[in-house]
Amino acid sequence: MTRRGALIVFEGLDRSGKTTQTQKLLEFFQKNGKKSVIQRFPDREEPLTGPTIDNFLKTATTVSQSKEVIHLLFSANRWACMDRIRSQLNEGTHVIMDRYSFSGIAYSLAKGMDKAWVCQPEVGLLKPDLVLFFDIDPTVVMARNGFGGEALERSDFQAAVYAKMNEIFQKEYWKKINAAETIENVHEEVLSHVNQVLETVTAEKEFQILS
Ligand code: TYD
Repeated sequence: MTRRGALIVFEGLDRSGKTTQTQKLLEFFQKNGKKSVIQRFPDREEPLTGPTIDNFLKTATTVSQSKEVIHLLFSANRWACMDRIRSQLNEGTHVIMDRYSFSGIAYSLAKGMDKAWVCQPEVGLLKPDLVLFFDIDPTVVMARNGFGGEALERSDFQAAVYAKMNEIFQKEYWKKINAAETIENVHEEVLSHVNQVLETVTAEKEFQILS
């Protein structure tokens, strides 16, 4: 029986180094002959919701300015990818996620939305085996190159998102990563958590829901 792949999620603020580190983890898996893929959320290639989300992020305008509609669009974007991701995991591929439901929840909470309301659409999505929270002071990421290009990259807003990410950081499968460290040190820290989790991924082809 094929052992299922692990679902490993990278979370954190814009410019916290998630994308560099997902790539390094992919290369690590590939070097060791393990099938793996990177799944970014939002998935701007997803045909139904991707173009609308991309337009919202680039221009902060879309068919609707409603916070509720934006929240549901990001969630629908994840739901639209679930069957494919489930198949990848079932065939033994590790799925490395660059953002997931926790971004969806934290970014909407930072807009002042109700917690129960924003969590509900995520219930039933695949539960990660590990969430790595890239912890870094918002003022440090805001000073990094490339910050500020998109609609949600405003300093007051990022500070609010950071506070909300810390608030929802409670589950046993969350691990904090010191994202202010060098790229190599962060990679080592990521690997130490990933290697522990790989030993615990069960052979059963069953997934727990996110609740
Ligand atoms: P992303 O494509 O990761 O952008 P970047 O590479 O610049 O980090 O994410 C785009 C933005 O969308 C980012 O500001 C976080 C936000 N976001 C939400 O508001 N809700 C969500 O559900 C997700 C996944 C992201």
